[in-house]
Amino acid sequence: MAESKIYYTLDVDTGRPYQVHIGTFLLEAAGAIAREVCGGARAVVVTDSNVGPLYAQPVLKSLQDAGYAASQYTFEAGEASKRADTLIDILEFMSAHELTRSDIVVALGGGVVGDVAGFAAATYMRGCRFIQMPTSLLAMVDSSVGGKTAIDLAAGKNLAGAFWQPSVVIADVGCLATLSSEQFADGCGEVVKHAAIADADLFAELERTPLTLELLMRDLPRVAYLVARNIDIKRAVVVADERETGTRKLLNFGHSIGHAIESCAAYSLGHGTCVALGMGAICRAAAHRGICDADVPERIVALCRAHGLQGSNTFPVDELYAAALHDKKRAGDEIDVVLPHRIGACSIERIPLAEFRSLIEEGLSESEGDAQC
Ligand code: GLY
Repeated sequence: MAESKIYYTLDVDTGRPYQVHIGTFLLEAAGAIAREVCGGARAVVVTDSNVGPLYAQPVLKSLQDAGYAASQYTFEAGEASKRADTLIDILEFMSAHELTRSDIVVALGGGVVGDVAGFAAATYMRGCRFIQMPTSLLAMVDSSVGGKTAIDLAAGKNLAGAFWQPSVVIADVGCLATLSSEQFADGCGEVVKHAAIADADLFAELERTPLTLELLMRDLPRVAYLVARNIDIKRAVVVADERETGTRKLLNFGHSIGHAIESCAAYSLGHGTCVALGMGAICRAAAHRGICDADVPERIVALCRAHGLQGSNTFPVDELYAAALHDKKRAGDEIDVVLPHRIGACSIERIPLAEFRSLIEEGLSESEGDAQC
């Protein structure tokens, strides 16, 4: 059996500190890590119908080898499962398997699995330990770190949830090899976002060598390095503002318009694609207003394309605006938006809703043709 190898360990010093391990063959190390970090006697592995058949067995075996009575709960893959009845089913499963507060939930999968399993852990007996084992690029670089857990409501994405930090994050970059090129590219939306808000050097590195599935096949340590670099950006923001009262809102760059597109498309477009469209639109609006130079939208759109993020918005401004009104970033008649000043530097501005509508209009009308990311 191949040996587990940890390339990087990052400390996330939130109220309840934890570590993020990035490496290879870490599915097989899950039990030993859980034993050391969490203890407990029982474990429920929550996964979905795509990831379960690929990766649940080694994780269950490793938990059993470490002395856990481990069981698996699998739900249908996709954003449509991120809803209240899945959450209740998981909670009932945990209760039927006699999980106590000292036992653990293991979220094995992409962003949907991490969000819903994390929310179940946050609410079960008012909170039990959980481990994030992200298997998608999006979950590795973004959603598994920082403690946001949620389900969607009819009105929009992530509208019910809790901040609940995991006990440890175990990112096995080998799992990325089974992603489709679309799924891989989808995670790159958040990679481009991180570089755009916080790290001009990383942005330039990605311009020279984009993070792609092909790079994964050719140079896995480089991919582990880029994943770690992204998690480091996220880690720093989350440590500075765990509950998103201030600077953490920077992570919402491209998300106000992106979430609106996602909602109008009934979640048929990937989150990363929508974030890419949102970043393109807000940057074009910012350049139109002289907040940033024209090269900012050009470079961001080019980097998204270099990462396989291709798409176009087909929804009218009024429809997007109506969807954005349900956004968590709205505060009464105002909304927080993240505006770019240059690559690596953005600011958070609270603006009236009417002005936000104008920004959407400017961002979309400034696009060339219909290809917007
Ligand atoms: N995905 C944005 C955040 O965790 O704050």
